[in-house]
Amino acid sequence: MTVLRTQVAIVGAGPAGLMLGRLLDEAGIESVVIENRNRDYVEARIRAGLLEQGIAELLEAAGVGERMRREGIVHHGIHLQFDGERHHVPLSELAEGRTVVIYGQTEVVKDLIARRLDDGLPLLFDVGEVSVEDFETARPRVRCVHDGAPVEIQCDVIAGCDGFHGVCRPAIERHLRQFSREYPLGWLGILAAVPPSSEELVYAHHDRGFALLTLRSSELSRLYIQCAPDERIEEWPDARIWEELQRRVALDGWSLAEGPVLEKGVTAMRSFVCEPMQHGRLFLAGDAAHIVPPTGAKGLNLALGDVALLAHALAEWFRSGDARALESYSAACLGRVWRAEHFSYWMTSMLHRFGDDPFERQLQLSQLRYVVSSSAAARSLAENYVGLAAGPLGAAGLDGLVAGAGLVAVPR
Ligand code: FAD
Ligand code: PHB
Repeated sequence: MTVLRTQVAIVGAGPAGLMLGRLLDEAGIESVVIENRNRDYVEARIRAGLLEQGIAELLEAAGVGERMRREGIVHHGIHLQFDGERHHVPLSELAEGRTVVIYGQTEVVKDLIARRLDDGLPLLFDVGEVSVEDFETARPRVRCVHDGAPVEIQCDVIAGCDGFHGVCRPAIERHLRQFSREYPLGWLGILAAVPPSSEELVYAHHDRGFALLTLRSSELSRLYIQCAPDERIEEWPDARIWEELQRRVALDGWSLAEGPVLEKGVTAMRSFVCEPMQHGRLFLAGDAAHIVPPTGAKGLNLALGDVALLAHALAEWFRSGDARALESYSAACLGRVWRAEHFSYWMTSMLHRFGDDPFERQLQLSQLRYVVSSSAAARSLAENYVGLAAGPLGAAGLDGLVAGAGLVAVPR
């Protein structure tokens, strides 16, 4: 058996686990990251694409923002479309000049993996039989199998960054309260080799169901349509997807360009939060602790925000033995998490078709008209969307947090 000794054992090499490893290294803290998939799989997985400005700044501060700065596309607004009309919501005007950046999660993950491997830090792909043990003691352990041989990682703290279906949350489940909501909805998403037809994102309410136009670059469009949560992708040949998209986003004087579909998949929607996000020396971060429906574009931002707080708290604890930040880690995250939960639920409820109830449809349209006609309502959407409404990791908090942890100063 191989025995590894480290300060923080990180389970999961998604955005949360990899970023935690990066921030800890910056603070001089050792970690071992383990991942149950192989590198190609992790780097090819297409998921979120929108970063709040504060989270983009965190990537820069952590020394992994160089490609994002070159290739990311800064956005100052979004469109809401309903009743055959498209309305612009000027996010930056409404939310203190803040912006969002389009840069794929896949790219964030590639940048973090490349940096970790360049730094020569341990990152084990393709591990099996992962278990977390003794986290109620001062000597927690993570066990797994790597290259056919058993591995034991002895550590001071375990970070459960292994997503919604991982092993860390189930290991402490009986100590947690869990809140959840399933929606009768899914999103069918495609990546298409065609320049985006709209420069800014379009969130479309339509009688046939929601649609979203987003992008990955000047050559790549990312498009979504509402579908059933258990929709069979085999029943959606490319021509049918384009036909449905064309109907849902149609607008006089504008057309949606089509192109080869490079990837497609269905995601079911759910809201989920567990409290607290910790038991003993096992700390949860990202999707392991909470899930939002993607309508608010918050999942990736929350995951990276969690680990910024966790890295800060761990740095304080390892440096001085002061456990106060670690003890308030969960509460500090949850304020922000619940705000994002509400916003994501609200956007989802306003924009999707839930059935044939004409009353509900009228309520949605009334709310959409209010958002595009009242500056107070539009400001509320904008502040939430750009991450200003989100508590300790909002615009003001991030600089202090990163600098306070002795990591690096945030360039302005
Ligand atoms: P993950 O990215 O899930 O990473 C967890 C990692 O842990 C994975 O690499 C996994 O393989 C690994 N792992 C799991 N179990 C183990 C184990 N036992 N041992 C070791 N490793 C393990 N958000 C948006 O904002 N917009 C979107 O369009 C969007 N689309 C999404 C589509 C899908 C299909 C999914 C699942 C999520 C989507 N999200 C979206 C949410 C967003 O991508 C997540 O919030 C984000 O990935 C969270 O990062 P994470 O690191 O916490 O978790
Ligand atoms: C994306 O670019 O994939 C994206 C953007 C905004 C969302 C969801 C997904 O709300």
